[in-house]
Amino acid sequence: MRILVLGASSIVGRALAEEFAGGNTLVLTGRDARRLALTESSCRQAGAVEAQSVVLDLSLGAGPLLDGIGARTLDLIIDAASASSATRDDDLTAGDLPAFVSADVLAKTALLEGLLKRQGTAPAVILVSSVLARVRSPGRGVYASLKTLEEAYLRRMKAGRPDMRLLVVYVGTLIDRDRGSEKARTLAKAAARAFKGGRTVLFHGVGGLFYVGLFHVQPLLFLAFASLQRRLRRRP
Ligand SMILES: NC(=O)c1ccc[n+]([C@@H]2O[C@H](COP(=O)([O-])OP(=O)(O)OC[C@H]3O[C@@H](n4cnc5c(N)ncnc54)[C@H](OP(=O)(O)O)[C@@H]3O)[C@@H](O)[C@H]2O)c1
Repeated sequence: MRILVLGASSIVGRALAEEFAGGNTLVLTGRDARRLALTESSCRQAGAVEAQSVVLDLSLGAGPLLDGIGARTLDLIIDAASASSATRDDDLTAGDLPAFVSADVLAKTALLEGLLKRQGTAPAVILVSSVLARVRSPGRGVYASLKTLEEAYLRRMKAGRPDMRLLVVYVGTLIDRDRGSEKARTLAKAAARAFKGGRTVLFHGVGGLFYVGLFHVQPLLFLAFASLQRRLRRRP
């Protein structure tokens, strides 16, 4: 397979690239050339046929990325890139939003559309999302909304392209960007298993699952509480 890894300079992106490296050709992207070089060499050690880094800023659009990928067909896109992932809503500056929307949504949608024009078969996509995209997440609304928007676009694309495979991974555990390599490897193994097993959705992390469950149970708890209150008031 020829695989594009967006966000390959991140801890999660690197773990996924290594997990999928064996026997495959990898195109690794991100902005941090030093971290990309580390991913490149660890992918070679993990058995990649070829690993090539393309240093670029997604907020500048998909053009440089489409040029970097070249004319050869891509079989799989692993999307672990997120420009907004470290930003809380309160810390946003005026210039951040256009750059986040470009990098986290528009460049990726333009990339897929560009690829679909070039190649006959659609690439499969593994989207690394977050459980925060499945709940109302105070303080992380922008990040969660951009993940939701990208997912909605991919689902719409998939509906019109029966040959396109999509796996959305909702990460529900906190992976430390500097020290979380073991957790990232566990996530990458689970994602690879889910992909090979033909799954379309993976929730990863017990804490996150509990959070999503609690979010959906909330309205029921509220109704139960309100009805209990009414009954108590009616008592003589
Ligand atoms: N860590 C967690 O606990 C956690 C939890 C849930 C979901 N996730 C998701 O998992 C993925 C990886 O997260 P992470 O924590 O390992 O890493 P991260 O620190 O969020 O890194 C994000 C990745 O995106 C790339 N990126 C950001 N802005 C970019 C831009 N403008 N152009 C090109 N690339 C850009 C970064 O590249 P450079 O560093 O080279 O700029 C980096 O490789 C993200 O999608 C995140 O939302 C992580």
